[in-house]
Amino acid sequence: MSNLAGRRVILGVTGGIAAYKAVEVCRRLVDAGAHVVPVLTESACKMVGPATFSALASERAHTSVFNDHSSAIPHTTLGQSADVVVVCPATARVISDLRTGRSGDLLTATVLATRAPVVVCPAMHTEMWEQPSVQDNINMLESRGVVVVAPESGRLAGGDMGHGRLASPDRILEAIEAAVGAPSGDFAGKSVLVTAGGTREPIDAVRFVGNRSSGKQGHALAAEAAARGADVTLITTKPETAPSGVRVVAVDTAQEMAAACTAHAPEADVVIMAAAVADFRPATTTDRKLKKSDGVPELVMVPTTDILAGLGAAKPTGQILVGFAAETEDLVANAAQKLAAKNLDMIVANDVSKPGVGFEHETNEVSVLMAGGLRHDVAMSDKRDIARVVLNTVLEIETHRQDQEQE
Ligand code: CTP
Repeated sequence: MSNLAGRRVILGVTGGIAAYKAVEVCRRLVDAGAHVVPVLTESACKMVGPATFSALASERAHTSVFNDHSSAIPHTTLGQSADVVVVCPATARVISDLRTGRSGDLLTATVLATRAPVVVCPAMHTEMWEQPSVQDNINMLESRGVVVVAPESGRLAGGDMGHGRLASPDRILEAIEAAVGAPSGDFAGKSVLVTAGGTREPIDAVRFVGNRSSGKQGHALAAEAAARGADVTLITTKPETAPSGVRVVAVDTAQEMAAACTAHAPEADVVIMAAAVADFRPATTTDRKLKKSDGVPELVMVPTTDILAGLGAAKPTGQILVGFAAETEDLVANAAQKLAAKNLDMIVANDVSKPGVGFEHETNEVSVLMAGGLRHDVAMSDKRDIARVVLNTVLEIETHRQDQEQE
């Protein structure tokens, strides 16, 4: 996975004809898992509409310091939160502004308000590109550490040929990846698989047997792992609320989730099974909608595969396998039984009968049980805080294993 996953990219677009190519760069950045924030200058908006970028990027396009929808001081908010600021295409005008430190609009003010790396992708006619003034500005920017993705030769606007055409999206993406650098964090280099949401087992074309899982705890785990540098695959029944910066695999039924887990789990260093998988599904289903006139249907249920038990039985050496236990009684005893029976390294147990715990809530209260018998009880907290504890416990298990190997 690209090191852009989970990174915040401010994509500044200025008013050259190559602005239309920035749309492709935007899409490629999103595909790489980046959180892309488009910032368009006034003239960029005359070339390509902000609606195009809003639709493709991770949030709506920003176009002005004033009347911004996101913040009272948008340039500092954008600049301070960026992992990288990209100006693509960069016109001669914006290159001059960047050199002199002029903050004439939201984009130039954002570049001044950032400490993140800045990548500039010039695009203009050959005569303009070769002007000593422009070359001097470019050299000065490079000497200050700005990454300049040199333009290429080829067809220019108006049918002219020459040097000055915007670099290819491949080269631009490479330069951005290099500028952003390797992810840091205590999960950097680890591949984490998380499942989330409740499965839906079809009765007919429109009806299903489901459960109340919102996917929030699994998504919080995926977001936390990505923020700590992991390469995250999220298998979820709620893709519409998946966090950015993770590879999303959308599934619906227990069978689809099982197939996705079988495909992705062998490569994972850590597997966290937070999904509420149906234990039973209707034995038969149909592509048509059952009619009232067909009579009241009699649902015969058959068991689904226990995905986690299967992953436990086939666990590769070194992998850390984490399960969840949703209980309404004998929390710790039941969870400990599942921990052993499914060959897990850790289980996160929650009493879903308590108010504010488990399904649909923003909060959770859990007991984290480890295979060695250790236990952490976590008081009612935000699901992201629970995710933090679960991931810290993964590292604890890993450290314990390394200590044992050294003995
Ligand atoms: N699980 C699974 N496949 C299933 C059912 C559950 O992988 N068909 C996983 C869940 O994702 C969770 C763990 O098993 O990580 C425990 O799920 P839970 O519903 O608490 O327990 P069950 O094993 O289903 O047992 P019971 O419903 O009897 O409590």
